[in-house]
Amino acid sequence: SFLEMEVEQINKGNYEHYMQKEIHEQPESLTTTMRGRLKHGGSCKGKTVLLGGLKEHIKTIRQSRRIVFIGCGTSYNAALAARPIIEELSGVPVTMEIASDLVDRQGPIYREDTAVFVSQSGETADTLLALEYALENGALCVGITNTVGSAIARKTHCGIHINAGCEIGVASTKAYTSQIVVMAMLALAIGDDAISSQARREAIIDGLFDLPYKVREVLKLDQEMKDLAKLLISEQSLLVFGRGYNFATALEGALKVKEVSLMHSEGILAGEMKHGPLALVDENLPIIVIATRDACFSKQQSVIQQLHARKGRLIVVCTKGDAASVCPGGSCRVIEVPQVEDCLQPVVNIIPLQLLAYHLTVLRGYNVDQPRNLAKSVTTQ
Ligand code: G6P
Repeated sequence: SFLEMEVEQINKGNYEHYMQKEIHEQPESLTTTMRGRLKHGGSCKGKTVLLGGLKEHIKTIRQSRRIVFIGCGTSYNAALAARPIIEELSGVPVTMEIASDLVDRQGPIYREDTAVFVSQSGETADTLLALEYALENGALCVGITNTVGSAIARKTHCGIHINAGCEIGVASTKAYTSQIVVMAMLALAIGDDAISSQARREAIIDGLFDLPYKVREVLKLDQEMKDLAKLLISEQSLLVFGRGYNFATALEGALKVKEVSLMHSEGILAGEMKHGPLALVDENLPIIVIATRDACFSKQQSVIQQLHARKGRLIVVCTKGDAASVCPGGSCRVIEVPQVEDCLQPVVNIIPLQLLAYHLTVLRGYNVDQPRNLAKSVTTQ
């Protein structure tokens, strides 16, 4: 009806689509996610993190044999992005499970495990079934959702709400970055008792305070990503290479492109390049390489060299000021992003790819908020 259309336009504010609005509101959604949870440090204790919903359970989590992350789609990718910092700060082994696969295999879950269920909606059938299975097996079950009162929030023993605000676009954007931030805070909370990593934790907390400003800065790439989308508009396929903290960025960037712009796209762990994907490289197939500064940077530089030697059509996401060192001779297209603490870099790096997916979709004339065949919340198996 006319009234419904009016209400929808009001909800979208100055934006044409929900996905666009949700991408651009990330400085605010991230601020809300962190509100009241970061402590600047008082008299005796330094900077810390406070997660009210976990207070009674944090010690059990710290002492568990293993942390298992369980989710689907974008929520799985967010957990993958947080995995390295959780392992680093907790010392607890972290394994990853796609919810449906865990249930298909009836994979081992033990009483000594902490099972973390990540779901924007809190209602995804596959994730819920995996939760019921983990409860039966006696694991401590933690929920990370965006929806207060959702099934996953209710059935887990404890949890953290991401407080990203209502997400309407079927393709998850702001929930993804808020999920990563919540899991980084979870890593800080689990590792809170270790003196040896105090400086590292404080650097991450400083990075979290600064993150909304860096996200505002990276959103200025909007026009540049629209220009790139124009170049890629009629491609058949797009590859995205990443590793370390940004393996997840590669998977999530490719997922965004395929689900909304309906272009085939694949996220690839750069360490696996020579074990197959290299055969695809020619002068036509566009390839995005994530090569921001972190411990993997020099490895990514050599990946770029190898792709370049095979005349790959490269688009490199790098740290501001690094264009010349990632792309000698200026043979590739470069997207420069602001640098943040390494474990938070996935939050910044996904944003140009969200913008690219958005613009590609609009230019190709597809429905960006409700992609063909997809649903926001898949409540059936
Ligand atoms: C659906 C959506 C995806 C989402 C996935 C998991 O497939 O289309 O965007 O990532 O479900 O949803 P959840 O609500 O559990 O995070």
